[in-house]
Amino acid sequence: MEIVIVADRAAVGEVAAGAIADLVAGTPRALLGVATGSSPLPVYTALARRVAAGELDVSELRICQLDEYVGLPPGHPESYRAVIEREVLTPLGLTQDSFLGPDGAADDLPAACAAYERELREAGGVDLQLLGIGSDGHIGFNEPCSSFSSRTRVKTLTHRTRLDNARFFGSLDEVPLHVLTQGIATISDARHLVLVASGEAKAEAIALTVEGPLAAVTPASALQLHPHATVIVDEAAASRL
Ligand code: GLP
Repeated sequence: MEIVIVADRAAVGEVAAGAIADLVAGTPRALLGVATGSSPLPVYTALARRVAAGELDVSELRICQLDEYVGLPPGHPESYRAVIEREVLTPLGLTQDSFLGPDGAADDLPAACAAYERELREAGGVDLQLLGIGSDGHIGFNEPCSSFSSRTRVKTLTHRTRLDNARFFGSLDEVPLHVLTQGIATISDARHLVLVASGEAKAEAIALTVEGPLAAVTPASALQLHPHATVIVDEAAASRL
């Protein structure tokens, strides 16, 4: 595992955007897995700046989704599909045509999960998966004790994750109880994993991920098994390493 420690959040964004830019330079039609949450936002800002400056051409890039809430009405602004459209596709000048994601509104959710696994495989697999990390060490929505061999499936959110994510909704009650998420094995199929984190609130989760035992209770510790994993953190998130 490669650990990159930089001064602040903006620098985390620049370093991760650099890895994505290098990928796109060699493979213009790469499949980039994106994550939601606040941690990857500086990455998207840095990418959009490079595109606007004419330094990076992402016109052939394909984007795919890590996880999704179950049961939000179509078009809900906090559905991850809507978030990715707002924060990634539109700023990069891409449309839904370049986008793959699981259907959190499907009647048959297990079938939607299987269909998404198939779609990712048929698309040639994910070249680079960008990840944030939950304060409890979750990646995607693989909550603590998720199996390292898990594939895309329905999960129930922990109270802690619902509390963490309530800031995006009007109240805790509005945060869905269930989600679809790529499993840890699905995520690990990506050829390169890039996890970004900033701030003191993530320091404990980062220490467990990087230096803790390989343990299902810290889902992100699965990165220790991956042949090409990069963790990019600011000094505050690195403070317990
Ligand atoms: C959600 C997402 C994760 C993300 C996590 C942390 O749970 N499903 O993919 O990593 O939030 O979000 P933040 O970066 O805002 O702390």
